[in-house]
Amino acid sequence: MKKLALMAALLLMGTVCFAQTKNLPEPNLQRKTLTVMESFKQRKSVREYSAKMLSDQDLSDLLWAAQGKNREDGRLTSPTAMNRQEIRLYVFTSKNVMLYDPQKHSLTQVAEGDHRGIVAAGQDFAKAAPVSLLMVADMEKFAMKGANAQWMVGADAGIVTQNINLFCSAAGLATVTRGTMDQKAISSLLGLNENLIPVLNNPVGYVK
Ligand SMILES: Cc1cc2nc3c(=O)[nH]c(=O)nc-3n(C[C@H](O)[C@H](O)[C@H](O)COP(=O)(O)O)c2cc1C
Repeated sequence: MKKLALMAALLLMGTVCFAQTKNLPEPNLQRKTLTVMESFKQRKSVREYSAKMLSDQDLSDLLWAAQGKNREDGRLTSPTAMNRQEIRLYVFTSKNVMLYDPQKHSLTQVAEGDHRGIVAAGQDFAKAAPVSLLMVADMEKFAMKGANAQWMVGADAGIVTQNINLFCSAAGLATVTRGTMDQKAISSLLGLNENLIPVLNNPVGYVK
């Protein structure tokens, strides 16, 4: 009887976990975008967004461009110092908060509800974007301490945000790199300890 109850509990847990993880469509590498040079020309901070949610394909392409796996050995579109891959990418939407897994190209829900307000933190334009991408540095994964380590994780997050910026300008989406956010509220919501540091964020949406 006990065994049966345990099996039922495990099955239920599996179902719940399955329901909370969403596989993204394959990134469209043939996507029609501006050239790299045109994208540099067009890149600019945009602080007005349509409220329309990004399509699954646009979200997939955006996350892959930000820091998706682009080689068989698990390396990413954005380089990281010593290939530590310490930048976590969270996706805030009107429905929930999800964590991107670059290796599986999937999203796992980590919180329910609309928490874009704590990322916007007083800059209301950011709350209006259907998606906010948050970069969190995992200092334990980076496995180095001190000022140099802080510079390097800052640079790594900077590369992710610029990948987002350049993808958005190439694909006709609107975004801006932001340092503003309510770090305390974010840490509390996501259960981040002192080794997990919110660094930058990008609201992303279609052009209004
Ligand atoms: C590290 C960093 C942090 C920024 N933080 C904010 C921010 O909190 N809010 C905001 O509206 N813009 C923010 N910006 C955007 C800058 O204000 C913007 O890039 C700058 O004014 C130049 O404009 P441009 O991006 O259109 O060239 C930030 C940019 C960077 C690189």
